[in-house]
Amino acid sequence: MAQKFRALLDLCKRRGFLYQSAEIYGGLRGAYDYGPLGVELKKNIQQSWWRHHVYYRDDVVGLDTSIITPHPVLKASGHVDEFSDLLVDCMLTKERFRPDKAPELHITDSKVLVQAPDKSTAKLWQQHITEQLAPGIKTILDGKKIWLPLISFTSPSHGQPGSIVFAMNNNDTTSPLSLPYHGYVEPDSLSPFLTPSRPFNLMFKTFLDPIDPVERIIQTTQQHNNDNSQQTVREAVDQVLRPSTVYLRPETAQGVFINFEQVTRTMKLKPPFGIAQVGKSFRNEIRLEHGIFRTPEFEQMELEYFVSPWTASHWFNYWRKLRYDWWLTHACHPEDFRQRDHEKDEMAHYATGCTDVEFKYPWGWGEIEGVAHRGDYDLTQHMKNTGANFEVTTTAEDLPQEEEEEALDKNKNKKYVPHVIESSCGLNRAMLAYLCDAFHQVPDPDNDKLPPRNIMKLHPQLAPIKCAVMPLTGKPEFLPIVQKVAQSIRQRGWNTMVESQKLKIGKRYYRHDEIGTPWCVTVDYQSLEDDTVTIRDRDSGEQRRLPWKDVSRYMEQHLY
Ligand code: GAP
Repeated sequence: MAQKFRALLDLCKRRGFLYQSAEIYGGLRGAYDYGPLGVELKKNIQQSWWRHHVYYRDDVVGLDTSIITPHPVLKASGHVDEFSDLLVDCMLTKERFRPDKAPELHITDSKVLVQAPDKSTAKLWQQHITEQLAPGIKTILDGKKIWLPLISFTSPSHGQPGSIVFAMNNNDTTSPLSLPYHGYVEPDSLSPFLTPSRPFNLMFKTFLDPIDPVERIIQTTQQHNNDNSQQTVREAVDQVLRPSTVYLRPETAQGVFINFEQVTRTMKLKPPFGIAQVGKSFRNEIRLEHGIFRTPEFEQMELEYFVSPWTASHWFNYWRKLRYDWWLTHACHPEDFRQRDHEKDEMAHYATGCTDVEFKYPWGWGEIEGVAHRGDYDLTQHMKNTGANFEVTTTAEDLPQEEEEEALDKNKNKKYVPHVIESSCGLNRAMLAYLCDAFHQVPDPDNDKLPPRNIMKLHPQLAPIKCAVMPLTGKPEFLPIVQKVAQSIRQRGWNTMVESQKLKIGKRYYRHDEIGTPWCVTVDYQSLEDDTVTIRDRDSGEQRRLPWKDVSRYMEQHLY
């Protein structure tokens, strides 16, 4: 499995789906650039999402709001105070990690294992442990492994830490060295030498100010020469910076909520209705993992659907089903997509219910989307903090059908703040999921001793190139028909490539199978006589002959 995933990553790099960002400068960790094929795939996923949720419906409109978000918006939404993960530093390896995802202590034969990347690092770490982190404890160096013999060990319980009591070098059991144990160790090295956990806000803070804020920070700290406790200086600096503090938005949703009044007024909308937005979001993630799965800069496709409190659970179920079905529309392996309800303690600060859609990535199940019942939390928060009024008047549509008459009587002309059902998915994660789902390796049909052949069985709607048009040979007479076919497909708005590689036809087909092109059209000698061409299907390898003028109609039948 790992080998297949490596082959996929290699393909993405080699064929222009994904590049390491700033690669010629050594690369930037967690940052990726999307190559010519990657950008098409991402755009096609986004367009399918937009078509299904905006164009195919009467009740959803689009929006595109600012990435730069002022402090008060994210203070009101709860992100300034609550959008944080716990962060722990490893004093041995200097790695930072999230404790909720970290493994437990590794004990074998009453010894704790610490695993270094190589022998020389293991030696340095052993010295650091015995001289600084746990002076005097017994250590056993075994290649890249450092073993720390134990006297005793207890697990944390009822919120209280457990303890790890180490054996000492001088075998003194009267004053052994003990570390608190919170139930986790550093994920890569398994080191138990950790700082206490502390909350870490995930938002990227910056300053919208023509004057460099560093000057003001220096002045403020100088003014506190006599009272320079860290907290006092910090508060003073925060106060000075507050007016120009902005954040790169951590979700696109807040832009939708703060435009609620403008959109309903200008588009004459009443619940139930939705606002869709696709755009970049930013989070200063502690742990960047699995390529584009978790990155600081990513794209979200979010739909905020506004409903009455009485119909909210109906719409929550409706969107959970509809969104899951959308994922399956493009999937080769539907069994690798599942829904999972959140436990109460997993939910974000605003949510009262949440169901994730997960994909079975090569490393295990991972979240690709959250469908959340956000209640009236966001609109109420922005009302409280601005004086805006987002209330709407109850109508028959707002009430569940079975209780309509009775409930309408009770609530007639009552005002309510709409509740929100949100569907939020990661575009980059969607791309990675569909690449993993579509990537197939088959034995080479000509020689089974050769490495397997790659076929990217992307849904035709998602394929970066919809059709490759190619002449059978370099004969110039083929070119006018090649151009005419390509033009007829391009007129439909589908990305088409005229394949000019001087390779054997079979090799050209293979190059397109590998990047997911669903159809290859070949112009040959017969085309010159009767205006027909062959069209080859990527997945079956079958070829059929048809008039070149029918190619785009044939594609349309198979695309939608
Ligand atoms: N507005 C709700 C919200 O943002 P979330 O569960 O925090 O909810 C929604 O994020 C989706 O955004 C996730 O399911 C995931 O697909 C994507 N996502 C979140 N953080 C990400 C990151 N650091 N890198 C890539 N995608 C991310």
